[in-house]
Amino acid sequence: MDGNNYDRVALVSGGSRGIGAAVTSALAERGCRVGCTYRTGLEEAEKLAAGHPGQVLPVQFDLSDPATATAAVNRVVDHWGRMDSLILNAGQWAGGRLAETAADSWWRVIDSNLRGTVDLTRAALPYLATSPSPSIVLVSSVVGLIGHAGDTAYAAAKSAMVGFGRSLAKEVARDGIRVNILAPGFVATDMTDAVPLSSRKRIEDATILGRFGTVDEIARAAIFLSEEATFCTGSVLTADGGWAL
Ligand SMILES: NC(=O)c1ccc[n+]([C@@H]2O[C@H](COP(=O)([O-])OP(=O)(O)OC[C@H]3O[C@@H](n4cnc5c(N)ncnc54)[C@H](OP(=O)(O)O)[C@@H]3O)[C@@H](O)[C@H]2O)c1
Repeated sequence: MDGNNYDRVALVSGGSRGIGAAVTSALAERGCRVGCTYRTGLEEAEKLAAGHPGQVLPVQFDLSDPATATAAVNRVVDHWGRMDSLILNAGQWAGGRLAETAADSWWRVIDSNLRGTVDLTRAALPYLATSPSPSIVLVSSVVGLIGHAGDTAYAAAKSAMVGFGRSLAKEVARDGIRVNILAPGFVATDMTDAVPLSSRKRIEDATILGRFGTVDEIARAAIFLSEEATFCTGSVLTADGGWAL
């Protein structure tokens, strides 16, 4: 599978920016055709498509709108006739200590990270089941594995993705579908741009490799799980520079 990927079709959620954009580009460079979802970033998604003519298809998707999950999957399958890989990367960070966060806002973080991920998976499963080598990768976070003060909602959503993914791996193995989870640590993207300098320094000091990761490093880990790790299912791969050690 890792030699010639020219026939593979992938759907990458949150492909317009950050980690998802790096995954989209790297898959396209390997010869895959990629449905790349955007919520607000149509322009960014179109730029990615222009950089890989005929290989990247921008598709609208909003984690909180189940109709867009079905529409995104159908758009890719209508366009290319199949789906082999699903990379569930779209997500939103929102922090705040439990005692200082209103209940509605707290649950919105769970909903905005988890609901669309599950909806997209549900819509894609019938198509993945007809692929000769299908796979799903869920982009969780090390915060969901070890916890982080000020992140109870985000961590709970990312932790739920681990339980969801491992259970799904058991359900769909009979269809040949591998399901794996990627848990990045701190990565330089728009999401972490808001981290104040003092916290950034603390995070770098606590990361044994001494720095934030790059989107290309995370993309390589995602592609390993998606395309190359043919004996891995239900696995959780951390890519965090040793922050969680
Ligand atoms: N950066 C980190 O340090 C880090 C660490 C661990 C895990 N992660 C996880 O990795 C994934 C990607 O993170 P990132 O840092 O690359 O984020 P990012 O730069 O903020 O990009 C987020 C992507 O998700 C899309 N998105 C955001 N909210 C959405 C929604 N409600 N519905 C649909 N799409 C939505 C965005 O689309 P538009 O721009 O088109 O709106 C964008 O393509 C996330 O799941 C994040 O939780 C990130």
